[in-house]
Order: sequence, then C-alpha cells, then structure tokens
Amino acid sequence: MNRILDGKSVLIAGAGGIGNALAIRYAAEGARVVLGDLDLATAEEAVHAIVKAGGEAIAIHLDGADEQSVDRAVATSREKFGGLDGLHANFAFMADGNPQVGILELPIEIYDETQRVNARGFYLCTRAALPLMIERGAGSIVYTSSAAGNASSPGQVAYAMSKAAGQALMRHVATRYGPAGVRANTIAPAMTLHSRIEALVPPEMVDWARGAAAIKSRVGRPDDIAAMGALLFSDDGSYITGQVISIDGGTTMRP
Ligand SMILES: NC(=O)c1ccc[n+]([C@@H]2O[C@H](COP(=O)([O-])OP(=O)(O)OC[C@H]3O[C@@H](n4cnc5c(N)ncnc54)[C@H](O)[C@@H]3O)[C@@H](O)[C@H]2O)c1
Repeated sequence: MNRILDGKSVLIAGAGGIGNALAIRYAAEGARVVLGDLDLATAEEAVHAIVKAGGEAIAIHLDGADEQSVDRAVATSREKFGGLDGLHANFAFMADGNPQVGILELPIEIYDETQRVNARGFYLCTRAALPLMIERGAGSIVYTSSAAGNASSPGQVAYAMSKAAGQALMRHVATRYGPAGVRANTIAPAMTLHSRIEALVPPEMVDWARGAAAIKSRVGRPDDIAAMGALLFSDDGSYITGQVISIDGGTTMRP
C-alpha cells in the first residue's frame, strides 16, 4: 500500500486529544514522528500505540513556550531521524474558555499566558524548525488554530486573538519561505470531541456545536484533523500553501 508520508520526519508539538490522533495517523502513513508535550505521559500513550503497530515514533517532554525546550525538541528530531520535513504546532493554553467571560472580566494573567503559549510558542517552534526544512529545500508547517480565530464570539477574546496571531504567522512563513520550498497552512477546527473535551464541556454545548454546523449527524473528531494534516505534509498537498482550512462541518463558511 502506498503510504503518503513514507520517508518523512514530522515533529508534533502538543499531544492530547487531537495531537495523539495526529501522531497515530502520520505514523500510519509512514512518517517518523517526534511527539512532544508538557504532559509526557499523554505523548507516550500515542507512541506506545504507534510502536505496537510497527511504526516509528518517540515521545519527549516539550514546553512549546520555552525557547530551550523547543530547541532541544528540534535537535532531537535531527539526531533521531536525521532532520525534519514537517512541524505540526498543535498545543494550546486554553484557560480562556468560558463564553460568559469577555474582555471586561478576563484576568490579564490569563490573557498574557494565552499569548505567551499560543502565539509566542508557535513563533518559537517555527523559528527553531524552519532552518532544518530550508536546509532540505522542502518542508511543510501546519498550525492548529480554531474557528475562534476567524469567527465572532462574545467570549474567548484572548484565545481567539492568539489563534488569529498563528494565522498571521502562517501567512508570513508561506510567503517568505515558499521560494525556499517550505509550505505553511493552518487547520481551524470547531468543536472536536475527544475524552478530554467531553470531560470539560457540558452535553448542551456539544448539541449547540452540532446545531451550528451544516453537517448535523456528528461533531468533529480528532481523525478529521489528522486526515487534513496528513494531506498537508504529503506530496499530494504540494501546491497547498498559505491557507486557513476549516475542518468544522460547515460551522464557518468563508470565501
Ligand atoms: N478540541 C476542540 O474542540 C478544538 C477546537 C478548536 C481548536 N482546537 C485546538 O486543537 C489543538 C489541540 O487541542 P485538543 O482538543 O487536543 O486539547 P488537549 O487539551 O487534549 O491537548 C492540548 C495539549 O497541549 C498541551 N500543552 C499545553 N501547553 C503546552 C506547552 N506550553 N507546551 C507543550 N504542550 C502544551 C497540553 O498538555 C495538552 O496535551 C489546540 O491548539 C486547540 O486550540 C481544539
């Protein structure tokens, strides 16, 4: 069977509900995966599943908002797998999640930490990984954003701003490093259900999310995000760059 990521090495920054599914899918498509998270045990769960299935992956402790930790993750990717063909920046600080809290109520500490981790963290990961791809003359960077980064909402102002910042970063990378062979794209999910989200979000909110989408039969799944990520890292995606791709069942529709 032709696996679309055979021979490629991908660093995934941020495990968890979506990140673990990304790792499992990319490895199943033949990629060698480095999966990093603050929570090493979660990354290890995915890596065990990958190795058991015959794939290649390693789990590392990563603080995506810390320059040295990010540099170590990139150095590990080079040492273990000879370099990088892809970076998927996926982690997020999500304390700004209460739709009842607006700019007048949000503590400035949550605002600051949201930007530090989500916006500055993606910047650091990009800055560290790009040189390895430029060196190869090819590469693909995928950022996990959110529908919150493109849609209006009475809440989540800091989170939405951080996700919009990631989209601006993506466009910079796509424009400046496209000539060097590096592509950059953003995936913007709406509600994507996995066990952690189920534990956090009341069932009424899941019903609301289903109602807000054009596809009513279900809400999003981590595998939906992983399928698009796999395409974006593959040669099948070699003419896709600079895009914010919504994987949200039609919750948002933009030109
Ligand atoms: N699940 C959804 O409904 C949904 C919707 C829209 C966007 N997203 C985005 O998808 C991505 C993944 O979210 P998820 O649903 O899998 O959540 P999750 O909580 O399962 O995973 C997020 C992971 O990020 C890690 N993390 C947080 N700060 C970190 C840091 N500084 N360094 C390294 N790792 C760190 C956490 O430990 C966690 O494992 C996020 O960027 C999120 O904003 C999710």
